[in-house]
Amino acid sequence: MDIPLFHLDWLNNRMLIAIIATLHALINHSLAVGFMPLVTWLENKGVVNSNPHEITDPKWDKMVYKMMWTAFIITTTIGAMTGVGIWFSVSLVSPNSIASLIRVFYFAWFVEWLVFVTEVVLILIYFLTWKNANKTLKAKTRHIKFGWYLSVFSWVTMAIIVSILGFMMDPGNWNNEQSLINGFTNPLYLPQLLYRTPLAMVLAGTLGLFLVSVFTNKGDTIRIKAFRYIGKWILCWLPFAVAGAVYYFNVIPKTMLANLQVAIGTQSFQQWYDIMWKVIVGSSIIILITAIITVWKPQIMKSYFLAITLVFALGFMGLFERVREFIRKPYIISEYMYSNLLREEDYPLYKKDGILKWATYNSTPTVTNENKVEAGRNVFMLACSRCHTTQGINSITYVFDRMYGNTGKPFKEDMMKSYIKNMHKSREYMPPFPGNDLELDALVAYIKQLQVTNEVLEGAQEVGVAINKDQSVEAFKSQFANKETQNESQNNLVKK
Ligand code: HEC
Repeated sequence: MDIPLFHLDWLNNRMLIAIIATLHALINHSLAVGFMPLVTWLENKGVVNSNPHEITDPKWDKMVYKMMWTAFIITTTIGAMTGVGIWFSVSLVSPNSIASLIRVFYFAWFVEWLVFVTEVVLILIYFLTWKNANKTLKAKTRHIKFGWYLSVFSWVTMAIIVSILGFMMDPGNWNNEQSLINGFTNPLYLPQLLYRTPLAMVLAGTLGLFLVSVFTNKGDTIRIKAFRYIGKWILCWLPFAVAGAVYYFNVIPKTMLANLQVAIGTQSFQQWYDIMWKVIVGSSIIILITAIITVWKPQIMKSYFLAITLVFALGFMGLFERVREFIRKPYIISEYMYSNLLREEDYPLYKKDGILKWATYNSTPTVTNENKVEAGRNVFMLACSRCHTTQGINSITYVFDRMYGNTGKPFKEDMMKSYIKNMHKSREYMPPFPGNDLELDALVAYIKQLQVTNEVLEGAQEVGVAINKDQSVEAFKSQFANKETQNESQNNLVKK
């Protein structure tokens, strides 16, 4: 309410965050958290299995080095940039929620920063000293140790962030006593961590298999050996990933599961719900089959099959992130702040005074006949624009038209009003309408105009800001001045 709203009318604001964050999580899990221990483990195998006069098996070591090279390039470029990108995009699209999260998790994020910087230093050391370390056994052993340190730090960065993701879905005790420790130990934290850790290991395994097939030739002994090792790695972690998923699924609050059906592609794609289960079960089976073949019949494993497995594994995880983001709705921080960035406890005030009165950046503090459509646009910006666009993805005219049977006929005001008043009941993923009756009229007038004009809603980044004159410094000063004169006259009355 007190930060000007950025808006992307074509792409939809949520999509901007979703694309960047999903890419980041995929890279983080498959190429950092899971991959660092896998690479270190494989590097160690090269030393253990080498001839007595060698430090390591040179061909093997070169292959593992190339795998690490891939991880190094991708994590330090796209991985790091999407990490910063998440901060940029959430600060633009969802400033209030990120502000709340920073207040709650201040120290956790500070520690996260230290851990992350250490992780970056370790990855530089591990990758850049690889070749030099092959000169003596002592240096090689130390190098492998650095690989393990790197693995631990990669995991810790994830372990801290997962707590914040869990918190957004279910803050647990924090709603009673708002402390960092209560926020950190939210009920979904451990289940999610117990699920994500083995999942990252499995993803890294499928990616590792694929990279081995790229960096070695058919029939190479090191290819067969590497397939066997990584196949076993996957077989060890897969049961934990499945058990973690089941555990996690069982602790998700039931109201959230009710949202699951629309989570994947929203309503018009309800059939996606079935697809989700097919993808989840299907990818687990494909990964299992791949792992079994690579362990028992590595000679017959083909690169293209490994590529398919990898795509399914990444698809599985991408889908999981999409669902996790959606089922939290209507909240952005469960039971505290709605996805429209308004706090639940402020709703009675908005219902009473109207939402426009309390919005700092807003040209129409009160609705009049003259400013009705403009006021409606402001209401839309505050109450709907975090999830709906006017002309792009999930556009408001499209959803209304679809609800009335895709007729393209002018919307009926009364029906719209009664729908919006109860929108949180008919579609539980939407927050209740926050404003008063005049604002509802204005919103409906605006949406009806949109249907005719196809005008595009521009965010504050395009049109700048207007300051609510009721919320300006001058307004507060004059309020105080009024109070003081009132007090004075009261005092005078008493004196008299
Ligand atoms: C938390 C995000 C969110 C907010 C905020 C939100 N909506 Fe929605 N709304 C959705 C989603 C998601 C859908 C489903 C889209 C789909 O099924 O394709 C939807 C669907 C709708 C529909 C169609 C419902 C149906 O049954 O087909 C209408 C009408 C609607 N929204 C109006 C509004 C209005 C008006 C506002 C602002 C006062 C608003 N929404 C705010 C997320 C939101």
